[in-house]
Amino acid sequence: MNKKERFRIYDDDIPKQAEKGYDTIADWYSLRKRGSYEFKILLPTILNLLGNLHRKNLIDIGCGPGAYSVEFAKRGAKVFGLDISRKMLDKAKNNAETTNMKLTLLKADAHFLPFMNESFDLAVLILTILNAKIVQEAARVLKPDGLLLFSDTHPIIESKGRWESNGMDAGRIIEDYFSQDKREWRIEPSPGRTVIFKYCTRTIEQCVNMITDAGFKILRIAEPKPGTDVRKSDLMHYYRCSRVPYFIVYLAQKHCEQ
Ligand SMILES: C[S@@+](CC[C@H](N)C(=O)[O-])C[C@H]1O[C@@H](n2cnc3c(N)ncnc32)[C@H](O)[C@@H]1O
Repeated sequence: MNKKERFRIYDDDIPKQAEKGYDTIADWYSLRKRGSYEFKILLPTILNLLGNLHRKNLIDIGCGPGAYSVEFAKRGAKVFGLDISRKMLDKAKNNAETTNMKLTLLKADAHFLPFMNESFDLAVLILTILNAKIVQEAARVLKPDGLLLFSDTHPIIESKGRWESNGMDAGRIIEDYFSQDKREWRIEPSPGRTVIFKYCTRTIEQCVNMITDAGFKILRIAEPKPGTDVRKSDLMHYYRCSRVPYFIVYLAQKHCEQ
């Protein structure tokens, strides 16, 4: 029998449901992360946007298994990885140990960051939740002129639609870009087990306004495309992601009154 577990990660239950849900998939998520097309597509763009990380105080909010945190540490940043899922943090700890990198890891809710105002040079939120409260918290803990990097799946790929066919050259039909219907992320972490996350997506307009309303100035937006490494490892995603944006990355700066 197929066991189905459902987690809602979009409303008032966000922290509780996210904690349970991500604990449930931590083994699966951490195993696939580094070889995944998303990591290969996003990492170069994220590093390029962040620039020199040497001696920077960086908070990775919703760090998960720490794949990105470790890369920031390798480039000289002092990294604090924060996550609501204990099991994800255990994976991040292993990851730090095997790569010989130092990460300071802590279990907390991104809605209430356990740090003083103006503690960090950089705050990153990669493929995790974003809402007005979380952006405001990121703004609070950033130093004046500090940078926020937020990356998400692209609203084009998240919006209500479908592929024309199963082929690599299939077009994407957008049926309703503005629909706020809840989306489902279905995962089969092990045979006979399905985990379903229900979440909501945002349009570009909503994301931009949320970031600027929290007192940030947007510096850059990137819609990264795959490189030859994805072509070698995942031909389907190479062709699809070369034509349709799967990810979007925003780089913003905490705006300070003169
Ligand atoms: C899809 S994973 C992304 C992990 C990592 N950023 C990456 O890209 O590999 C989302 C992560 O956000 C964490 N998360 C979700 N809600 C959170 C919250 N309210 N506070 C802290 N972490 C949260 C989850 O536990 C999970 O590890």
